[in-house]
Amino acid sequence: MILDINTLRLDFPILAQTANDQPLVYLDNAATTQKPQVVLDALEYYYQSQNANVHRAAHALSGQATQAFEGARTKVASFINAPDSAQVIWTRGTTEAINLVAYSFGMHSLKAGDEILLSTMEHHANIVPWQQVAAATGAIIKVIPLTADDELDIEAAAGLFSDRTKLLAVSHISNALGMINPIKELITMAKAVGAVTLIDGAQAVGHFPIDVQALDCDFYVFSGHKMFGPTGIGVLYGKRELLEAMPPWQTGGEMIKKVSFARTTFGELPFKFEAGTPNIAGAIGLGAAIDYLSGLDRAALAKHEQALMKQLLTGLSTMPDVRIIGRPQAGAVSFVIDEVHPQDLATLLDMQGIAVRTGHHCAMPLMQALDLSQGTIRASIAFYNTPDDIAALLAGLDKAREFF
Ligand code: ALA
Repeated sequence: MILDINTLRLDFPILAQTANDQPLVYLDNAATTQKPQVVLDALEYYYQSQNANVHRAAHALSGQATQAFEGARTKVASFINAPDSAQVIWTRGTTEAINLVAYSFGMHSLKAGDEILLSTMEHHANIVPWQQVAAATGAIIKVIPLTADDELDIEAAAGLFSDRTKLLAVSHISNALGMINPIKELITMAKAVGAVTLIDGAQAVGHFPIDVQALDCDFYVFSGHKMFGPTGIGVLYGKRELLEAMPPWQTGGEMIKKVSFARTTFGELPFKFEAGTPNIAGAIGLGAAIDYLSGLDRAALAKHEQALMKQLLTGLSTMPDVRIIGRPQAGAVSFVIDEVHPQDLATLLDMQGIAVRTGHHCAMPLMQALDLSQGTIRASIAFYNTPDDIAALLAGLDKAREFF
């Protein structure tokens, strides 16, 4: 199949907009991706024609809403190759999914002296919940360091695993550096000591297919809005035996079997973890995003993204004052420019219609390890970006330089 990116771009109405009176060059996809019209239509259709609460009412509209909502869960299960849609728990996003595991699994299964292994690359969302668990249980956080080449130090990781390691929580792709972490090797090491594994897939799902059974991780978490779906919806995938053993985190309606003032019994998976009215429209919108992505040639999209990464890295490497951070492989490229504050540069790029993110990217410990007190400039791509977008960024940097 020949990939016609300019035609695909027409599916995303926002890309035709201007920013600061310039054509929009959207290179902040690691923060959130844009939404295709089919996702916008699915949200509108739900609210216009199907809006009702799910699972509880005895009327046709509720039946339709429930069918669409549960249909979306089935789509997610097949998208990540989960064995059963009951192992797909709706959350607000990656952050809530990690908090669910931290507060349900972590708080109840970990005890003083147990070790939680994180990596230097983690987003705050995969650090702070574990610090809360450690503070409450006496568990200890250990951190996989970086090599001199700013990769995760696998040899050091091997030395950190022991029979005290009870949980490994690492990102699939670093949101700040666009580096793909060696999660397969880390999962194997974790299994060898009987540790539970959680993979933060927020930055991966929009770039390549995920197979949770092939990875054999215990938990995989991600957000809808980073894979062309709506904000406010995300997923926790978990292995059945773990999810079944975990107590509910939030409680209330929807997640119960029977309630009396003496005692409450909880519902089955996945409902045990879904208290209250869920984000029905969000789930349906995410289902539409999955349908959209599944209709595309994802291998061709990944190849196109790789070509954009190469163009960007080649262009940046010809600029003597630019330092690329780490070895970007997918989605994002972080860099700094001598003597230039990232935020000043972003403002000058924004004036040219170019959207990037600057700062610590919610990864302060990583920035500290890299000795980057002002953070970086991060350009992050999606399949709808074009060689013209990358050329605009490179030219935009040259133009911005004139101000310094
Ligand atoms: N986690 C998002 C990012 O990396 C917001 O920008």
